[in-house]
Formats: sequence, structure tokens, C-alpha cells
Amino acid sequence: AEADDQLIIDAGQKQFGATVCGSCGMIYSADSLEDNFQHTQFHQRFLDSIKFVGWKKERVVAEFWDGKIILVLPDDPKYAVKKAEDVRRLADNELGFQQVSLSCPSQAKTYLYVNSDRMVVGCLIAEHIRQGFRVLEQPEQTKDMTRGDFMEHHRAWCCSTTPEKAICGVSRIWVFSLARRKGIATRMLDTVRNSFMYGGHLTKEEIAFSDPTPDGKLFATKYCEK
Ligand code: ACO
Ligand code: ZN
Repeated sequence: AEADDQLIIDAGQKQFGATVCGSCGMIYSADSLEDNFQHTQFHQRFLDSIKFVGWKKERVVAEFWDGKIILVLPDDPKYAVKKAEDVRRLADNELGFQQVSLSCPSQAKTYLYVNSDRMVVGCLIAEHIRQGFRVLEQPEQTKDMTRGDFMEHHRAWCCSTTPEKAICGVSRIWVFSLARRKGIATRMLDTVRNSFMYGGHLTKEEIAFSDPTPDGKLFATKYCEK
């Protein structure tokens, strides 16, 4: 009986050994058949979706040392629109959106961050909006919490009931897990502010995030205070 128990404990512990795939970023247990299978299913599909072959006409709106930002509009050639959709689907998958459609697909602007290895590692979808609701922190309940605690508890944020004028709504922002914390989301948003409106520059107040995730809130809070 002792030997049997030991076996079970070992097997249990092995399940905890999580591996991160260095190419697709999936976290899985290499010891689990099920996980290995799911990883194999995911891996190639993911890499195909983010692969960027290069287009004859690319609307490059910003260039950086480690990549460039391409803007895709709804009336662009099929291959461009398809790539934007493929990447959006990956982002939606990760965000847990099922079939959330854009409020107005024919108006949406998709910004793709293509890195020097020709992979789309970032995606931002921006839409024209008339108004947004400012996110308010709740000072009463959070007075004694550190910001980290606050975020960790994923408290519901309270929104102002007074609509404020906004011009650009960010309905999706996603960066490939292995490319995060390198300023890619920041650079995509800066680029949106410079290129969203022809001939105009948007302030941070004119941008609204729709329904942000915990990651999205941390990023948006930081971005807006700079
Ligand atoms: N935890 C704490 N702080 C963060 C985080 C985080 N996870 N992400 C960003 N920040 C803050 C940091 O202060 C960071 O600066 P630092 O790295 O010098 O400390 C600053 O924001 C700028 O971060 P970037 O490097 O520009 O952001 P990144 O390229 O990593 O992308 C993003 C951020 C898009 C939220 C990414 O984490 C992601 O794709 N997450 C999964 C998808 C998601 O949740 N997207 C938001 C959905 S909400 C919406 O779509 C409207
Ligand atoms: Zn992989």
C-alpha cells in the first residue's frame, strides 16, 4: 500500500511541472498526454496565424528598431483583412471572448505589430465612438490596500454615470505572451493617437478602453498616468 501511495503522490507532483513553449508561449504540463495533445493542436495553428509573409501594399504607420506597425482597414485586400481577422481570433480566444462582434466592423481599424522575425506579435482594434465612461476608483474600500492588492482582488471598477466625450474606443488590445512588457502595447496606442484621425492627434482622454481585463486595467492605468 505504501508503494501505491508513493506512486500517486509522484504522479500528482509531476502534473504541477508546467512548461512554457518557447515558440507559441503555451503553458502546459509536458507529462500530461492530454496537455501534450492540446499543445500540438494549438502550436502550429498559432504560428501560422501570426506568420506575416509581407504584402505588396503595406500601410506602415510606424517603424521601430524591433518591428513596425501596419494599419489594416475594412476595405483592404482580402489577404490583409484575413490576417487581421486571424490575429483577432487568437486575441479573442485568449481574452475568453466567444463571438463578441465589433460594434461596427465596417469602421474598425486594426493595427498589427509585426516584429523583425516577421510575426504579428501585437494587435489593437480601434473604433470611432462618441462617448465613454470614465473609470473611477473606489477610495472608501481601497484606502488601506496597496495597488497590488487592489489589482489582485480584481475588484469591479466603478464607472462614472456621466458620459464623457471620447473619440477612439479600443475594443481589443493584445500582445503575444512572449513579447510582453517591451512597450509594444504602449507603442501601438501612441501610434493610434497619431494616426486614427486624419491630421489630428488624440489626447489620452479622448481614448476609451472597452471592458478591460485585469492585464488591460494595469496597462491602461499605467499608460494614462504617464
Ligand atoms: N502587470 C502589471 N503592469 C503591467 C502589465 C501587467 N500584466 N502589463 C502592462 N503593465 C504596465 C507596466 O507598468 C508596463 O511598464 P513596465 O513594463 O515598464 O513596467 C506598462 O504597463 C506598459 O506595458 P507594455 O509593455 O506597453 O504592455 P504590453 O506590450 O506587455 O501589453 C497587454 C499589455 C496588451 C495588456 C498584454 O499584457 C496582453 O496582451 N494581455 C492579454 C490580453 C489582454 O488582457 N488585453 C487587454 C484586454 S482589454 C481590451 O482589449 C480593451
Ligand atoms: Zn508551442
